[in-house]
Amino acid sequence: MSATATTSGGTTANAAQEAGRGHAAGSSAARVPTIVLGGTGYVAGELLRLIAGHPKLELRAILSDSKPGERVSAQFPHLAAVYPDATFAALDEVQALIASVPSAAVLCAAPHGPSAELIDRLLKHAEAAGTRPRFVDISADYRFADPEAYARVYKHAHGAPARLADFTCAVPEHLAELHTPHVAHPGCFATTMLLAIVPLLQLGLVEPELYVSGVTGSTGSGRTPTAGTHHPQRHSDLYSYNALAHRHAPEVVAVAKTVTGVEASLNFVPHSGPFARGIHATTQARLARPMTAAEVVARLREYYAGQPFVKVLDAAPRLKDVVASNYAHLSATTNGRTVAVMSVADNLTKGAAGGAVQWMNRLYGWDQALGLAAPAPGWT
Ligand SMILES: NC(=O)c1ccc[n+]([C@@H]2O[C@H](COP(=O)([O-])OP(=O)(O)OC[C@H]3O[C@@H](n4cnc5c(N)ncnc54)[C@H](OP(=O)(O)O)[C@@H]3O)[C@@H](O)[C@H]2O)c1
Repeated sequence: MSATATTSGGTTANAAQEAGRGHAAGSSAARVPTIVLGGTGYVAGELLRLIAGHPKLELRAILSDSKPGERVSAQFPHLAAVYPDATFAALDEVQALIASVPSAAVLCAAPHGPSAELIDRLLKHAEAAGTRPRFVDISADYRFADPEAYARVYKHAHGAPARLADFTCAVPEHLAELHTPHVAHPGCFATTMLLAIVPLLQLGLVEPELYVSGVTGSTGSGRTPTAGTHHPQRHSDLYSYNALAHRHAPEVVAVAKTVTGVEASLNFVPHSGPFARGIHATTQARLARPMTAAEVVARLREYYAGQPFVKVLDAAPRLKDVVASNYAHLSATTNGRTVAVMSVADNLTKGAAGGAVQWMNRLYGWDQALGLAAPAPGWT
């Protein structure tokens, strides 16, 4: 089957065009063919929702290992209105598509481990055909520049170490210039923490010894229920897991060093929260010099000035104000010697699909906020 004639390609393209009507930039000719990997997962579902309203991305294929040929609306009933007839694609269809269009936007929401090899394989197809896709990987596979660091944390060798140099890992707000063709999204907990940690380190406000307590919702664990993540276990309960030993801590330290040049140490205790979406992180550190809360808030506000998605508040940030949006809220307080920065973000949007689309906007030279400006519903 030719890639451009795939069932999913044709039907989703029409649905996305339909969904994009009313956007100023929305002519189909100007849109970039878009591919989602990891099709039936939670993050993929959020990517599909965002792409349906994006004026420059045109969904052409959704790869699914487990459900090729099945209707997308059966897996994501909330998306039936925008993708009524779309079906999941098989790998050979995606390979053919990526080789047939000059440039495709590829958003990878597959698990870490398989992602490295899947992306490498698709890039080889593109290289052989002379096409130039842009990838944003939301898995952990391209976050470390060093394959040894990856192997230490993930306990297996990296699947495509030669590709690591082609990816940059950072929160978009922290990097003014990008020098690689592809991006690795830092992830949900990491994004929420880094929004607090990076300015504290970069502005020299704190000693580089950080203590973070974070609480995440159940969608952070993906669609497959396990004993520790299943709804009856989490409902009306709160508990820590992997305290001081979570895999995201070394990733955060590595990204913070890339962006700020400061080698910090991070003591991170994650918790499982009794809600579906959102992350709340509290970052504490010793101040480099005595500062009031108002001074820290003013410095953070100055740091994020002009950034559309990060708001620095006077009052404590609340999950409901950001859930299901690409916005993140921060606030800070001090007792003169220690600072506490509270940050909230949605794990599936800013912490995954939204942050990835924000990076894709930048990779194509568009306004980073394109398709992402909708505010949070407020009551979820
Ligand atoms: N959930 C979050 O809040 C969050 C936040 C940031 C980053 N992430 C990262 O984003 C990725 C997706 O997370 P998720 O929560 O959406 O996970 P998920 O709900 O478990 O979905 C992952 C999907 O990947 C596909 N998949 C499974 N095994 C695969 C394999 N061997 N090769 C290729 N695809 C495979 C499956 O879809 P098909 O069978 O349809 O292919 C599966 O539904 C993960 O790497 C995760 O670490 C998640």
